[in-house]
Amino acid sequence: MKIAVFGTGYVGLVAGACLADLGNEVICVDVDEKKISDLKKGKIPIYEPGLEAIVKKNFEEKRLTFTINAKESIENSKIIFIAVGTPQSESGEADLKYVFQVAETIGKNANESKVIVDKSTVPIGTAKKVKEKASEFTQHKIEVVSNPEFLREGSAVKDFLEPDRVVIGSDSKEAAELIESLYKPLDCEILITSSESAEMIKYASNAFLATKISFINEIANLCEKVGADVKEVSKGMGLDNRIGKHFLDAGSGYGGSCFPKDVQALQKIAHNVGCELSIIREAENVNKKQKTIPVEKLKKEFDSLEGKKIAVLGLAFKPNTDDMREASSIEIINYLLREKAKVIAVDPIAQETAKKILSGIEYAKNPYDAAKGADALILITEWNEFLELDFEKIGREMNSKIIIDGRNIYNKENLKKLGFKYLGIGR
Ligand SMILES: NC(=O)c1ccc[n+]([C@@H]2O[C@H](COP(=O)([O-])OP(=O)(O)OC[C@H]3O[C@@H](n4cnc5c(N)ncnc54)[C@H](O)[C@@H]3O)[C@@H](O)[C@H]2O)c1
Repeated sequence: MKIAVFGTGYVGLVAGACLADLGNEVICVDVDEKKISDLKKGKIPIYEPGLEAIVKKNFEEKRLTFTINAKESIENSKIIFIAVGTPQSESGEADLKYVFQVAETIGKNANESKVIVDKSTVPIGTAKKVKEKASEFTQHKIEVVSNPEFLREGSAVKDFLEPDRVVIGSDSKEAAELIESLYKPLDCEILITSSESAEMIKYASNAFLATKISFINEIANLCEKVGADVKEVSKGMGLDNRIGKHFLDAGSGYGGSCFPKDVQALQKIAHNVGCELSIIREAENVNKKQKTIPVEKLKKEFDSLEGKKIAVLGLAFKPNTDDMREASSIEIINYLLREKAKVIAVDPIAQETAKKILSGIEYAKNPYDAAKGADALILITEWNEFLELDFEKIGREMNSKIIIDGRNIYNKENLKKLGFKYLGIGR
């Protein structure tokens, strides 16, 4: 099948490379000329395990190409994926300008009937608007399929190729079947729905997962007050199949490019039709508060944080990515800076991204250097590199041995034996 994918970000590049790997001829299109010229040289713009290899292989075997030429890619493709960003607008709604720009470009350049696939996360009703937009500019038949993406950064290639399910929503049975045929080689359930239901499945799934995280974070905060350990509690809860163990780890709040904006956007969608999503609103409020907790804990340990040196382990919003959009580290570090603390941070991959976002902090090469002279250490991102540290060595480097374990990854008893003051979340 000949496919064009508009947007070569986390979703578009992964989808394009994986669809090529499934045997399709894929052209990835972006407006970012540097990104495209880098990709043509084999330089991958993001860190994502397994992506470089799959891009390289399919590029060399000529199933995957990169271009900024929208016209040519549309003319050469029957199926056109839209995987551009849908960032949060000032009002909280999803900003659809990039999606509609692509729809218009497709309409203007369609040389035969086309099937557009909305892969970006878009509000309910967008598939119909995309069809209208593209059809304004062409006499050729345009069908639109909503095919939301559920991949997670950090395991995106695996998630795309081994999904729990694929959702395909369309008014057109023919278009839905065509897109279904793309996913047939994957061993998973394919759910065919209306475009509205498909669009809602994506938002409802993200809002549910965000709520699950905020739920366990609230329980964690209560655990601290009543002497329970949230790690034991979430394990005991998660063993119940009706609850499930995933997304039940307490910590310093969720971040990333999806949950925060999608939770906001869904509330806006509801508000616009006269509904209020009170559970989801509270999930968001709990999350905002949760991101302040590591610093609140630290403030109780010192008269003032002014001039205190705080080592921060982890900047990415989660392990195995360089993405820092809405990362808890940003809130935590900015709060530390407002308290006039000195911050020295370390992250295996996201340090270059951090330099564009955070100012007034120093960076270390590794956790041991970060710990030198530190008055406390905060673990924010649970990278594998931070799991097995030599805490005897870290303790020797630190000025005072205080650890805030923002993801509950360390063995508190071991750390206590080594003379640390250990403060987890809900333990
Ligand atoms: N990142 C994730 O984990 C994830 C997971 C599921 C769904 N989504 C959704 O997928 C969509 C894309 O997310 P992302 O993280 O890949 O975004 P991203 O910001 O990483 O990439 C978007 C890309 O689109 C390009 N672009 C913008 N306008 C364009 C145009 N007119 N033509 C061609 N390219 C254009 C940008 O230059 C950029 O490279 C969003 O709606 C997001 O909510 C993201």
